[in-house]
Amino acid sequence: KGPALADAQGRLIRYLRVSLTDRCNFRCTYCSPAEHEAPDALLQRPEIARLVRVFAGLGVRRVRLTGGEPTLRKDLVEIVADAAATPGIEEVALTTNGHRLDELVAPLRAAGLGAVNVSLDTLVPERLGGVSGKGARLDRILAGIDAAAGRFRSLKLNTVVMRGVNEDELGALVRYAWDRGALPRFIEQMPFGGGVPVPLAEVRAGLEAQGFALEPDGWKGWGPARHMRARDAAGRTGLVGFIGAMTENFCEDCNRARVAADGGFQACLGGQDRVNLRDLMRGGAQDEGLAEAVRGALWRKAPRHHMEDAGSGLVLLPMRGLGG
Ligand code: GTP
Ligand code: 5AD
Ligand code: SF4
Repeated sequence: KGPALADAQGRLIRYLRVSLTDRCNFRCTYCSPAEHEAPDALLQRPEIARLVRVFAGLGVRRVRLTGGEPTLRKDLVEIVADAAATPGIEEVALTTNGHRLDELVAPLRAAGLGAVNVSLDTLVPERLGGVSGKGARLDRILAGIDAAAGRFRSLKLNTVVMRGVNEDELGALVRYAWDRGALPRFIEQMPFGGGVPVPLAEVRAGLEAQGFALEPDGWKGWGPARHMRARDAAGRTGLVGFIGAMTENFCEDCNRARVAADGGFQACLGGQDRVNLRDLMRGGAQDEGLAEAVRGALWRKAPRHHMEDAGSGLVLLPMRGLGG
């Protein structure tokens, strides 16, 4: 067993994101999911379990399952159970659009899922179609959130802030999350769907204009979010998370790497460099060979992303199948 995984900057890699599919039943404007995937392209359940075991042996302690939409995988519950039972893995987490969450809460809990992040960009039913396509139904997302509330160690709601779309809902989204014991988080849009981010400074000012007082809070989870303690006009307080990938870059503390739905290992979300772990496994690679490929990719990982250069030379690998 080699030393703990670190990249060329000495950042320890403790957190693995694994995309289970590049398909999605939604069509969010800031994302670009696939209509369908080649049947053999996806990592199979035993391949995912093996990768989680190999990464756990290299020091990874947390696994987040993403997509596309991970709940479209028929074997999601089994994949969660495999990961949760892997020695060294302290928590398995899921990021979902919420559409199928209601019926999955009980089996996912039983399988050992610890944390759930749900995308929630608007509370206005007429707005959702414009953001996430006609397959998206707000009643289902909200039912999923209600079903998940209080049933996992952690529940977070992710809002990508979009100009002229949901900027007027910041306060309502915060209160909606707090009412369910969930952590509201606002995200700057990254240029995968071409959109322009609303800078977090504006998001904070917007929240203040909607009646919240904000002060910095040192709490830090496992992820890129920074937090503030917010107090509304009624004196109620709670945390709000801010993910400023574009204007408040968090790359310095990066602790993660990701495996795309097709087995492509990508050290940085904005990176150009992929080594395909599925192909290596199907070609007969031993665990040490997989570990070597991962170490090599981490050695080439840049100090930070340069997604602000997207379009002017930099070509981003699509968000689809990469899971953020
Ligand atoms: P927690 O562990 O719960 O904090 O999760 P997370 O924020 O890491 O994961 P989630 O899937 O909820 O993603 C929230 C947002 O963070 C999405 O917009 C992701 O694309 C973004 N994100 C997650 N990891 C990275 C990263 O390494 N780099 C960048 N630039 N964005 C990331
Ligand atoms: N920029 C920022 N966040 C994004 N997400 C999807 N596409 C983008 C983007 N272009 C978010 C979704 C989901 C999480 C996995 O990534 O809102 O919550
Ligand atoms: Fe689907 Fe998530 Fe992409 Fe929206 S952001 S289209 S819910 S994968």
